[in-house]
Amino acid sequence: MSKPYAPGAAQIHNPQVTNVAVPFVDLKQQYASIKTEVDAAIARVIENTSFILGPEVRAFEAAFAEYVGARACIAVNSGTAALQLALMAAGVGAGDEVIVPSFTFFATAEAVSVLGATPVFVDVDPVSYTITAAAFERAITPHTRAVIPVHLYGQPADLDPILELARKHNLHVIEDAAQAHGAEYKDKRVGALGSAGCFSFYPSKNLGAYGEAGAVVTNDEQLATRLRLLRDHGSTSKYAHAIVGYNFRMEEIQAAVLNVKLPHLKSWNDARWARAARYHEALSDSNLVLPREMDYARHVYHVYAVQSEHRDDLQKRLTAAGVQTGVHYPIPIHLQPAYASLGYKRGDLPVTEALAERVLSMPMFPELSDEQLDRVAAAITGN
Ligand SMILES: Cc1ncc(COP(=O)(O)O)c(C=O)c1O
Repeated sequence: MSKPYAPGAAQIHNPQVTNVAVPFVDLKQQYASIKTEVDAAIARVIENTSFILGPEVRAFEAAFAEYVGARACIAVNSGTAALQLALMAAGVGAGDEVIVPSFTFFATAEAVSVLGATPVFVDVDPVSYTITAAAFERAITPHTRAVIPVHLYGQPADLDPILELARKHNLHVIEDAAQAHGAEYKDKRVGALGSAGCFSFYPSKNLGAYGEAGAVVTNDEQLATRLRLLRDHGSTSKYAHAIVGYNFRMEEIQAAVLNVKLPHLKSWNDARWARAARYHEALSDSNLVLPREMDYARHVYHVYAVQSEHRDDLQKRLTAAGVQTGVHYPIPIHLQPAYASLGYKRGDLPVTEALAERVLSMPMFPELSDEQLDRVAAAITGN
């Protein structure tokens, strides 16, 4: 199935409306602003005929590690691969439990399951929409091996108490930073604050490739060595395989695009933040619950989701006004058919379940103009 614009394969309301006045995401505008550099970078890769794990990937790994403030970056071919690799490198396998929020994109839990481990779903904080130390603590059992805080929508989870608890119980903290490139927790960029951090460079992400791509960052050299091995068939040299791994290698074309884009990330994130501030002001008198940046956080607004008691009506109204919106995410993971065998039922995670019925993501991208944004706000408030 193709994923249209969606962050985390978001459900985009995509009616038969051709007059889209305000798209959910507009990747064309961004491309136009960097076209010369991107085209040259892609052409360079083709000229060099080095297509996988070459000089562009090495340059990107160095640059992204520095950006995040991590010792090492291991470039891979999706955010899902990054999660799977990080968990495997941390020793997660059959019989283990990994604590994950239910309010996230499916891949967070899926990465646990494909390793033969069991995701243990917990609720999120009703304000930050991220996992709390209290929920984490309640879910710990003798089988727990790791926890995955998801920095959902671009807002970091409150990591310090989570890290402290993980240290006490000797557990790995694997950050899912797929939506949080450049987001800060207490003035530090997220990603390398736990054992490892996983990023997606899916095209519509704050830092997006022109195809599938992802990365794991870590400060742990031993973990980095294992991650590099696992990414490339456990291979130590050509046709010598120390361990069984995967083919999760990043393509040079994707790295070349990311090398062009990374220097712009800060200004794009600042633009998103300014868009969020304008939404906030325009909607402050509405009856919607607006996203709140936590005191400890610099939010990067990958998604700007409001809460409405009449979400579906609101979405229809916006669609009629030519405004594309999305729902991240309409079905909590603990209630997905794929996890029916785990036996969760409605009512188990009330915050997540309420959010799934109430959240609606507004158009959000750095190039969203004041006029477009004001049009969204007017369609909401009727002014
Ligand atoms: C929170 C979260 N985790 C994991 C992923 C998986 O990343 P990818 O689509 O690059 O595999 C995504 C995005 O799609 C995501 O939003």
